[in-house]
Amino acid sequence: MGDVGVLQRVPLGTTGIEIPELGVGVWQWGDASFWGYGREYGITEIRAAFEVCMARGLDFFDTAEVYGSGASERNLGDFVRAGGRPVVVASKFFPYPWRLRSPSILGAARASLQRLGLEKIDLYQIHWPYPPRSVETWMEGLAAAAGEGLIRAAGVSNYSVSQTRRAHAALARRGLPLASNQVRFSLLDRGPERSGLLEACRELKVTLIAYSPLAQGYLTGKYTRLHPMRGLRSARLGGPSYAQLDRLVGLLREIGSGHEGRTPAQVALNWVLCKGAVPIPGAKTAQQAEENAGAVGWRLTPDEVRALDTATA
Ligand SMILES: NC(=O)c1ccc[n+]([C@@H]2O[C@H](COP(=O)([O-])OP(=O)(O)OC[C@H]3O[C@@H](n4cnc5c(N)ncnc54)[C@H](OP(=O)(O)O)[C@@H]3O)[C@@H](O)[C@H]2O)c1
Repeated sequence: MGDVGVLQRVPLGTTGIEIPELGVGVWQWGDASFWGYGREYGITEIRAAFEVCMARGLDFFDTAEVYGSGASERNLGDFVRAGGRPVVVASKFFPYPWRLRSPSILGAARASLQRLGLEKIDLYQIHWPYPPRSVETWMEGLAAAAGEGLIRAAGVSNYSVSQTRRAHAALARRGLPLASNQVRFSLLDRGPERSGLLEACRELKVTLIAYSPLAQGYLTGKYTRLHPMRGLRSARLGGPSYAQLDRLVGLLREIGSGHEGRTPAQVALNWVLCKGAVPIPGAKTAQQAEENAGAVGWRLTPDEVRALDTATA
C-alpha cells in the first residue's frame, strides 16, 4: 500500500449506492448541550465546513432526528439545497420507549424529510437497538419506509454481532439488504474488532460506519494533561490516561511525518480506513474539515497499521 492520490468511492453495503471512503458526521451542526453549537461556533463556521467537504468530494453526511432536536437535520438540509449538488444523506430513527409499533418509523422519517427539505433519506438507521421492541419490529418499519419511497437504504447503529445478523436476516426476508451498522470505532475504541463485529460485517457485506473515529477529539493531539478536554465529553477519559494518550499521539505524529507530515488526526482516520470501515469524523469549522479531508488519498503501510494495533492492543 502506498499513496493512492485520490479519494476512493466505496459501495454502501450491497445497496448500489456509492459513498466516499470518508464521511462527515454532523451531530455538531446544531447541538448546543454536548458540542456547544451557538456558543463556541455557529452557522457561519458549519456552513464553511460544509463547503470544504463538498469541495473535497466528501458528500456523505450523517445526521439524526435527535441531533440538536432536529437542528442538525435542518442545517444540513439548508446547505444541501443551497449547494444544489447531489449528496448522500444518512439520518436516524430514535426508538423512544413510547414508539411501540413499526409504523412510527413512517411518521419519524416524514418529519426528518420535512426538516431536511429532501425527497428521500438515502440511508435511514435505527439509532440504538433499545428494548422494548425487537430487532425484527424495526426492520419491518424500515422495509415499510422503503416501500413508501421515503428511504433508499436501511441501516442500523450500535447493534451487536447477533443483532446485526438478526437485522440482516429480517430485511433479507423482505428482499432488502442491510446497508450498514454504525458503531463507535477508533484507535481508542477497538470493540468492533474484539467482538467480531468488523469481521461479521465483512462477511455479510454490511458497511461498518465508524463514529467518533477521533475519539471525540482526543486523537487530534490537542487535548493533553495540561490542556484537558472539559465538559460532558471529558467524562470518558480520566487524568492518568493522558500519559498513554501522549505516547499514542507521539506515535501518530511519527508515522504521519513519513507521509508528507500528516497530522495525528489524519493518521488516526486512515487507520480506520485501513480496517475496512468508513469513518465519519465531525467537524465544527472549515479548518477541521480541511484537515480531516487530508486523511484520504493515501494509505498507511501494513507495518504502520500493525504498530498502531500493538500500541493500542
Ligand atoms: N450512532 C451513534 O450512536 C453516534 C454516536 C456518536 C456520534 N455519531 C456520529 O458520528 C459523528 C462523529 O463522531 P463524534 O462527533 O462523536 O466524534 P469525532 O468525530 O471523533 O470527534 C469530533 C470532534 O473532534 C474535534 N475535531 C474534529 N476534527 C478535528 C481536527 N481536524 N482538529 C482538531 N479537532 C477536531 C471537534 O471537537 P472540538 O473542536 O470541540 O474538540 C469535533 O467536534 C457524529 O457527528 C455523529 O454523526 C453517532
